[in-house]
Amino acid sequence: MEKQTFYITTPIYYPSGNMHIGHTYTTVAADAMTRFKKLTGYDAYFLTGTDEHGQKIERKAAEKGVSPKAYVDEIVANTKELWKLMNIEYDDFIRTTDERHEKVVQKIFRQLYEQGDIYKAEYEGQYCTPCEAFWTPSQLVEKDGVKVCPDCGRPTEVVTEESYFFRMSKYQDWLIDYIQTHPDFIQPASRANEMINNFLKPGLQDLCVSRTSFSWGVPVDFDPKHVVYVWIDALSNYITALGYGTDHDELMQKYWPANVHLVGKEIVRFHTIYWPIMLHALGLPLPKQVFAHGWLLFGNDKMSKSKGNVQYAQPIVARYGCDALRYYLLREMPFGSDGNYTNEAFLTRLNADLANDLGNLVSRTVAMIEKYFGGELPAWTDAVDEALDTPLHEHCKALPGLVEAQMDKLQYSQALAEIWKVIGECNKYIDLTQPWVLGKDEARKDRLANVLLTLAECVRFVAVLIYPFMPTTPDRIFTQLGVADPSLRTWDSLARFGSLPAGTRVQKGEALFPRIDIQKELEALNPQEKKPEPKKEKKQEKKEEKPEKLPEGLISIDQFDQIQLRVARILTAEKVKGSDKLLHFSVKLTDDEPVRSVVSGIAKFYTPEEMVGKQVVLVSNLKPAKLRGIPSEGMILCASDAQDNVLRLCTVEPGMEDGAYIR
Ligand code: ME8
Repeated sequence: MEKQTFYITTPIYYPSGNMHIGHTYTTVAADAMTRFKKLTGYDAYFLTGTDEHGQKIERKAAEKGVSPKAYVDEIVANTKELWKLMNIEYDDFIRTTDERHEKVVQKIFRQLYEQGDIYKAEYEGQYCTPCEAFWTPSQLVEKDGVKVCPDCGRPTEVVTEESYFFRMSKYQDWLIDYIQTHPDFIQPASRANEMINNFLKPGLQDLCVSRTSFSWGVPVDFDPKHVVYVWIDALSNYITALGYGTDHDELMQKYWPANVHLVGKEIVRFHTIYWPIMLHALGLPLPKQVFAHGWLLFGNDKMSKSKGNVQYAQPIVARYGCDALRYYLLREMPFGSDGNYTNEAFLTRLNADLANDLGNLVSRTVAMIEKYFGGELPAWTDAVDEALDTPLHEHCKALPGLVEAQMDKLQYSQALAEIWKVIGECNKYIDLTQPWVLGKDEARKDRLANVLLTLAECVRFVAVLIYPFMPTTPDRIFTQLGVADPSLRTWDSLARFGSLPAGTRVQKGEALFPRIDIQKELEALNPQEKKPEPKKEKKQEKKEEKPEKLPEGLISIDQFDQIQLRVARILTAEKVKGSDKLLHFSVKLTDDEPVRSVVSGIAKFYTPEEMVGKQVVLVSNLKPAKLRGIPSEGMILCASDAQDNVLRLCTVEPGMEDGAYIR
């Protein structure tokens, strides 16, 4: 019988800088799903890659004095190294600079033009020359009564340019209907409502799909002074990689439509509005699902002042191995929600879930088989204790189904939670059956045999099931359990409880995940984190020593220095459900730092639409808080009158880069 196919993708990442733990998160999730599907009998195909065109990369390369291609080549090489380190087994890695991709993008653009979905028009717009960007009137911001560029705050001018446009408006009603009749298409479902209410119902504008202001892109082949808009170029990767539009489109035939595009929530709009419309216009079926996961946030006041407050995977993997990090990423937060990354939370889980729960279960099981049966698995006996054995056997037999049900919903964290429930039950089973007591009594050896076999078999189930999430740990467990037969490591082998043959020789090995001293590890992981502490204390001491020197109501320069004020750019804004005061923003500092989530009580004074693109002043080292369950990683400063009737945002004069420090 032919295997059912399963095609999964990650976004193709911008190689403007090295990939951090956020990119790692999506890629690990895609890899785990691919492995899970392969384990359960699917013919799974996993695509990732890099999105290499556009003005941003062109500028970065120029700053470094190298060609854009040389610039991205280096980062792509680092990215591939990182994926190797994380044990990512992709089937293909597409680069938008690949010839196979560029050619097909040109073909797609031409086809859409020839069939009238793309048209050329004079575009009259507000143009900001320093930023080389067009803006619609509603995107401009007002400054001293003049409408200015939302990026740099300088005046714009009316410029007429020829551009190509995609008739998005033509497909608006079709798309609303499609989303409403395909409830699985956009997940989590709240994102579908967001797309319909915020973007589709208010009306889709035709999209400008070519640029003449820079050249690092795919040229429109029949009008080469234009390059194809980066999102048209980028989204096409999901089909160009499969050979769409070429004579070798076997993969396209086999795997399209994709089962799931994994994306971060900030790019849902592109994947659920532009992309479906493009595909529909090309006469292609839509991906079955776009799943928008949440963000890993880094809003922690211990982050260093320099730009490097991003967490990278490499130092963590170097100390604890890639499986520990993979486990943490997939376990810590429900897929779809935001969560904070902190080394402390990671290390705590490492100790609790991996060293204690899993590691101890394996080492105790193996050690007891060595001690009481000379390292050889005995045969099952009829010394069964129904009350203790049956529930655990039954739970273990049900486990594959429980895990699969969660994985079908992309609930990695819940899938792992199911496995850890059985691990917990096993540890409890040891306490209840007390093998060390049974071992003292030769007459109860039969009972002891069943207890240890039960544990060994549960460990086998666990080892098979954790493989997609932690691909190197099962081998280490199987070595200790003495399971050499590959047929005992398969999904099908889990149809039966009790398959480990008598006589199997177990072998105690190193601890799977040695217990660690969290405090020491925290210091080792982030030595800078340690240094400011004494400084702070000193400052406090100083303050305590000479409080009288500060006239009442004044603070010292040291105290002021402790407050980090930075220029932040609003990327997205939305109302917080159930609140008429709060807006939820994603804000950007520098390019190298992860986007932050910030909640602010300004909804009565600003609409989400007018906030997008603005530069604001952010207290960036404020202790993170949660407002209505949403993480807030900083405070946006505003001026307000005494009665709070008037409120205005604080901002900086035009021309300041995002992330700059205000001193
Ligand atoms: O958007 N938490 O590329 P990009 C979780 N080239 N996921 C994160 C994250 C974080 N803090 N930071 C990044 C682009 N990601 C486009 C995509 S697709 C046709 C084009 C992950 O380099 C997450 O998957 O900005 C997010 O959507 C993606 O990286 C953004 O990567």
